[in-house]
Amino acid sequence: MAKRKIVTLPGDGIGEVVLQQTIRVLEAAGFEAEYIQGDIGWEFWRSEGNPLPQRTIDLLKEHKIALFGAITSKPKEEAFNELSPELQSKGLIYSSPIVGLRQHFGLDICLRPCRTYEGNPLNFIRRGTTGEIEEPKVDVAIFRQNTEGLYGGVEWSNPSEEVYNAFMTHPKFKKNFGATPKEEISISTRIFTKKATERILRAAFDYAKKYGYKSVTLCEKPNVIRETSGMMYQMAKSIQKNDFPEIELWNTNIDAQMMWLTKNPEDYGVIVAGNMFGDIVSDGFAGLIGGLGFASSAQMNPDTGIGVFEPTHGSAPKYADYKTSIVNPIAMIESAIMMLDFINENEIATNIRNAVAEVIKEGKVRTYDMMKMTGRADVVEKGAASTIQMADAVIAKLK
Ligand code: NAI
Ligand code: MG
Repeated sequence: MAKRKIVTLPGDGIGEVVLQQTIRVLEAAGFEAEYIQGDIGWEFWRSEGNPLPQRTIDLLKEHKIALFGAITSKPKEEAFNELSPELQSKGLIYSSPIVGLRQHFGLDICLRPCRTYEGNPLNFIRRGTTGEIEEPKVDVAIFRQNTEGLYGGVEWSNPSEEVYNAFMTHPKFKKNFGATPKEEISISTRIFTKKATERILRAAFDYAKKYGYKSVTLCEKPNVIRETSGMMYQMAKSIQKNDFPEIELWNTNIDAQMMWLTKNPEDYGVIVAGNMFGDIVSDGFAGLIGGLGFASSAQMNPDTGIGVFEPTHGSAPKYADYKTSIVNPIAMIESAIMMLDFINENEIATNIRNAVAEVIKEGKVRTYDMMKMTGRADVVEKGAASTIQMADAVIAKLK
């Protein structure tokens, strides 16, 4: 049988090292694949004016599965200034290549699990009523709508007459913003469609059913954002009632949810939200289980079988040039485990998952974040594991 092909998109900064080390782990676990590297990120914005070249899109279209490291994005002005001089007159506008990938391939289902590893010194703790220390076990799977909403990219500064006039037909726009000069107005829209909303809700309920979670929590703000959040809530109620009566539907507001995060995180199971609130709540939960070194993410289109698997952290440029890399590869390794789940390589997935859990439980090998050190070039001398040493430790625990 021909070897499976996996597209690797290291991107910028620490993306490359965490991806390399993850591939070592995959190979050691016996996952047979050929890796084909694709171009993505800041370097290609600067040199070609496009951080997501067409050839990369073609690669993913052909091979369907990608492991993605991280990219660097910079604000508008810096993006323009760093563009190579011959491209600066072309009117190019930077847009995030990862958002581009999501939208191009309709990777509308984003799953971000946050689970406590026993023995992780970064686990959230709190005090009980008699002063004892409690370490609640977090086990949530966050489903984030990944293509629409506030990150849908429909936005304007100093909108055209046509757009402005259309907004002026809305009584609240007219009342609250009608006196402000057009040039002083920026607008970012939050568009939800029924189709995509239904897909993310169903993905969340299906997952709850498959893995035995008792509840799905919709985390939005329907009392204020009445149209988009409101629609999502109505749809969630009807899907639950008609198709998942055995699973409870809970409804929390994003702001209150962030407060409850540290009060009762153990009560939540599957969480579902729109794009931005999903982003926020998943970072919030990630903080309870160790932060960015542990937060992984899958972005999938179950219809086409295309999936991109990436840690939620960025390119951490300040650590990118260290001679010995200090960053934690676990988030990237976890993302690769989700890739294995997606392509039904369950045995290998379980093997790696257990190996990571054992390393953390044993506590002998810890990257600087797990040692609660400030990230600096000398942390390895001071006893923290390097990125490579952490990958080695995981490999050593594979069965
Ligand atoms: P970041 O996630 O790159 O880094 C923030 C801090 O988190 C780091 O300074 C470090 O202390 C810690 N950290 C991140 N990854 C870690 C790891 N694997 N192990 C241990 N500690 C880790 O976010 P930041 O600094 O806000 O952004 C840097 C660049 O990354 C920006 O250009 C940003 O646009 C981009 N970014 C890209 C993302 C992506 O590729 N999906 C997501 C977030 C940011
Ligand atoms: Mg984020």
